[in-house]
This record gives sequence, structure tokens and C-alpha cells, in this order.
Amino acid sequence: MGYKFGLIGHPISHSLSPWMQTKFIELAQVNGEYKLYQGSPDELENVIKHLREMEIDGFNVTVPYKQVIIDYLDELDADAAKLGAVNTVVLRDGKWVGYSTDGEGYVQSVKEKYPNLLKRDISVLLLGAGGAARGIYRSLVQQNITHIDIANRSLNNAESLLSLKESDTLTSVLSFKEAEENLSTYDLIIQTTSVGMKPNVQDQVIQLNNIKENAVVSDIVYQPIETKILKEAQNNGAYVHYGHSMLIYQGQKAFEKWTGINLEVNHLTDELEQKLRGE
Ligand code: ATR
Repeated sequence: MGYKFGLIGHPISHSLSPWMQTKFIELAQVNGEYKLYQGSPDELENVIKHLREMEIDGFNVTVPYKQVIIDYLDELDADAAKLGAVNTVVLRDGKWVGYSTDGEGYVQSVKEKYPNLLKRDISVLLLGAGGAARGIYRSLVQQNITHIDIANRSLNNAESLLSLKESDTLTSVLSFKEAEENLSTYDLIIQTTSVGMKPNVQDQVIQLNNIKENAVVSDIVYQPIETKILKEAQNNGAYVHYGHSMLIYQGQKAFEKWTGINLEVNHLTDELEQKLRGE
């Protein structure tokens, strides 16, 4: 018998994780499978029971269970506890241990594309303050990025990220209008809201007229891969960072937690890009 991995969430039938994790299993030359364990909130208890009984080696957790899964874990990584969210569960000595690899995955994906960016003394603008933004904010803080402003529709939600700061982190909470006005001060702009996602491909959370030359714009939305904000970034001479690469690296980090194998997966970023462009 090989490894048993999977994904819980709802709905997940269009998830790219089985494609990606099956590639990782092949690359690592191990035996294993990665399956979808879909279940509505009413069915979650049964799904969890099934995963316990089958002694699944590890699984990913996606919307809407990233918070609620914590109630079912035996142990929780300190960072995942701080975030209040888990996307990866590992079976270790019979116990379920929860981690969050989303933020780390984002940081790794940026390092692969722009190796020197996070080594510089940069100013970052985070657009959005949901679960994805929390993980990214925390991972940037851990990379010793000290200046990270947050712009969000609801300022209260943005303020809730301030508990993830370290003592030397400088963060202002801004409206989208204020972010547009200050845009020329940022070296990295990270779009983490769902704005611009299919089918609403004409939507864009802020305008980039005032962007700094040579700034990098990231969008974690990857359907479509060229979101409106990324097109505008390119039209304004900025560099872009596509969302699908975060998906690959959060998955790679989950695979590493399950198997101890740290795979080189750069080429899969290109493969996934082609797959998404072809759709
Ligand atoms: P995720 O886990 O993917 O980050 P989430 O936790 O639901 O998703 O967070 C969604 C983010 O997108 C939030 O920042 C949300 O803004 P609010 O905090 O004000 O709700 C943002 N968002 C969603 N729809 C939006 C819209 N139409 N305009 C602006 N921001 C939006």
C-alpha cells in the first residue's frame, strides 16, 4: 500500500489539487493516491470519521473548513494557531497535526520568480484581509518584511490582521482610495480578494495609474490567469506574479509535511500556467 492523501472542502469537484499532487507523487517516485473527499457541512462529521478509519496519511483542507477543522485535530502548529486556519493535516504517530502552508507557499512562489525582491527593504501593500491575506501577512512578517500596509473594503477586518504583527512591523490600515493615492510608495502589491475572479473578469479592486516603476503586482486569483489588475500592471510597466504559482508551492509544502520530500516543482508552475491558459 502507498500513501493515502486527499482534500476536504465543499465544493471541490473542480479542484486542481488532485492533478498537482498526483504529479508530486510521480516526481517523488513513491506509491500513493490523492482523492477528493467532498462533503457539505452536514456531512463533515461523516467525512472526518471516514478519514480517521481509513488512516489517511495526510489531507488538505479548503473552503469552508479551514477554521472548523481545528476542532478535530490532536495538535496544532503554533503559526496555524495564530492564524486560526489550517490547510494541511498530517497523521503523525496516530495523531492529526494541523498546519497552514498558504502564506509560506506564497512567499516561496515569489522567491522563485523574483529571487531578490524579499531580500530588499521593500514596502508592501496587501489588498484584502480574508483568510489568504492573513497567511500571506504572517509569512511576510516572518521574512522580516517590516513595512506592510493593508487596504480592505471593511477596515475592521483589516485591523484584525494587526494581531499577526511583530514589534518592528509597521502597518497602516487603508481604504482602497487611500491605497490608490499612496500607490507610488509600494514595491510589491498583493491582490488577495476574490475581485476579478471568473466570471467577474472585468472587476478590479483598485486602479494602478499611480504605480511605482518596477513594482511587482501579485494576484492570488488564477482563474483567469491574466486578471484585469495584472493586465493593467503590465500596461503600466510593472512586473507581474501569477496566482497559480502560490497554489503549486502551498501544495509542495503540504507534500513535504506528509512525506519529508522537498520536491523541485518549478516546471509544474509552467505546466499549470499552460493548462489554465488553455481552458
Ligand atoms: P479568502 O479565504 O479567499 O481570503 P475570505 O476570507 O472570504 O476569502 O476573504 C475575502 C476578501 O475579499 C476580504 O478581504 C473581502 O473584503 P471584506 O473583508 O471587506 O469582506 C474581499 N472581498 C470580497 N468581495 C469583495 C468585493 N466585491 N469588493 C472588495 N473586496 C471584496
